[in-house]
Amino acid sequence: MTYQLTIEPLGATIDVEEGQTLLDAALRQGIYIPHACGHGLCGTCKVQVSDGEVDHGAANPFALLEMERDDGKTLACCATLQSDATIEADIDDEPDAQIIPMRDFEATVARIEQLTPTIKALHLRLNQPIRYQAGQYVQVQIPGVEGGRAFSIANAPQAGGQSSEIELNVRRVPGGAGTTWLHESLNVGDRLQLTGPYGRFLCAARPPCRWCSWPAARACRVRAP
Ligand code: FES
Repeated sequence: MTYQLTIEPLGATIDVEEGQTLLDAALRQGIYIPHACGHGLCGTCKVQVSDGEVDHGAANPFALLEMERDDGKTLACCATLQSDATIEADIDDEPDAQIIPMRDFEATVARIEQLTPTIKALHLRLNQPIRYQAGQYVQVQIPGVEGGRAFSIANAPQAGGQSSEIELNVRRVPGGAGTTWLHESLNVGDRLQLTGPYGRFLCAARPPCRWCSWPAARACRVRAP
């Protein structure tokens, strides 16, 4: 079943599948809603539901207080729809951000480099080119680890703002299940599932700079979200 979600102040209406989170639906249809953890913990993706019914999902009670639920707020990264709905989101205009819908990718490990004793570079060949802006990241699914793990894309996009191969620099976090698996169990030729691109900590360089190859007409700078 599919519901209709209207996102204000944009006035955009998108389709949301039953069980799909509001954030996932928005990002896949090229609409950016501010977010960070993606797991109901930080509260960054809080929106106001002005019409319709939502299920708050796994929202942490400290990230979405009881009084906020009563007031019609929800967390877009956890909430799913139970009817057509309208939300009010705090979406800043970001003139340097391109509209790039998030997609699913299958990656094959082409090469692994040991950069330092604790950091490995994973070179991943994708089943289709990914379009992204320098500074954006992907979420990698790791076997046995719940939820994706976020890693910045370390190489600049190539011609057309996209690449068929991406590099992720993975620091081994002591006690971290995800980075430990990537360091100890991942081999060349293995496959990984990932989604992206995410994030608005991006480099909008003009003319093309050594960081991002972005073709335009202003001085290079890195923009904070
Ligand atoms: S992004 Fe952190 S709670 Fe939704």
